[in-house]
Amino acid sequence: MSEFSITTRLVHAGERRAAPAGAAAVTPIYATSTFVYERMEDVDRVVEGTETGFVYSRYGNPTVAAFETAMAEIENGRFAFAFGSGMAALHAALLACELSHGSVVLASQDLYGASLELLYTIFGAFGVRTVTTDFSDLETLREKVAHLKPLVLVGETISNPLLKVLDIENVGKIAREAGAKLIVDNTFATPFLCRPLDFGADFVVHSATKFLGGHADATGGVVVAKEDFDRPALTGALTLAGGVLSAWEAHSILRGLKTLALRLEKQCRNAERLARFFLDCPRVEKVIYPGLADDAQKEIAGRILNKNYRGAVLGVRLKTGSRAEVYRFMNALRLCTRAASVGDIFTGVVHPATATHREMSPAKRARLGIDEGLLRVSAGIEDVEDIIADLENAFLATEIGKAGFEKKNFIRVI
Ligand SMILES: Cc1ncc(COP(=O)(O)O)c(C=O)c1O
Repeated sequence: MSEFSITTRLVHAGERRAAPAGAAAVTPIYATSTFVYERMEDVDRVVEGTETGFVYSRYGNPTVAAFETAMAEIENGRFAFAFGSGMAALHAALLACELSHGSVVLASQDLYGASLELLYTIFGAFGVRTVTTDFSDLETLREKVAHLKPLVLVGETISNPLLKVLDIENVGKIAREAGAKLIVDNTFATPFLCRPLDFGADFVVHSATKFLGGHADATGGVVVAKEDFDRPALTGALTLAGGVLSAWEAHSILRGLKTLALRLEKQCRNAERLARFFLDCPRVEKVIYPGLADDAQKEIAGRILNKNYRGAVLGVRLKTGSRAEVYRFMNALRLCTRAASVGDIFTGVVHPATATHREMSPAKRARLGIDEGLLRVSAGIEDVEDIIADLENAFLATEIGKAGFEKKNFIRVI
């Protein structure tokens, strides 16, 4: 280096040293967009795939690859590709199904609002027709599949925000018999509660922004595929549409994965306790939680989800149709966050009508049961008694709570 000027040495000094002798205990952050080789022939071999390696981070990066390998293994898939967000992952999975003008997508009516918007607006603009139906009604689903001949069915293991558990086993059978692919968004269940490929899904997608990362500090998504023959189509969706995950985010999410089971055990236990708390609340009309669901849902949840846990998210319908009252309740929360996400280590309360399904017309929201009184609660890992105290205080601070809570001496200052 000494033969070069200071200007040049500042650019190159210390870089591209041989790999150290000891292997890093966890995958480091490869914060590099490109990779250099001694000889052009080496580059050729990597590009042609006769030798493993990395050339350019849009085509692959070691930190991102570590996360992808982990996800393929955990979801029992053949391979996985990581993306910059959950939406980018779903977009890629749909692209990999080779939709074209005139293709039909049959989507669960309970899909996350933005997922439906993606289908209607982005894919709709290219002539792809999206039809929604209730995936819990298998007879109607079978008829619609026979009639519409969709290329793809899309559902969520546990839907957002109504928490319906998808009968992946039977929906997968219906899709397979019709030669259609099944994409399952496993964000709310996570591989700790369910591995959809085992039940017949073709692609699993995740918003890794949620439980996988778990700490509200990374945005990402991932697609896991069941069959190797889907690799070229997904490779194209990744490298040409280009919505790749950064090495920094991959590192955070990979670290999140290591504690997923610990976090979820606690979050699910807290969610169960919160469900019981809300059931006893005089100003709550309905509690939605897979563990408490009606018989049909209970049977499906028992078959599809982890035997001991039913998820960390619950829905609560307050006895009010007034947005102002619901906002007053939410604004009175001091511990639970009003963050527009789910699956983090802290408890979060969301108003789906103005968040996840904001773009949907009020009439359609009402038909689905996403009304002004509905709240979605994502249980965190805090001491559940502190969460309950915060909720009780918020009820007391609002009109909604007055009737039921005044007599009970619930207040505990936090
Ligand atoms: C079920 C589900 N899928 C996908 C997404 C999109 O994920 P992201 O925000 O990472 O793009 C979300 C986001 O809330 C979601 O709840």
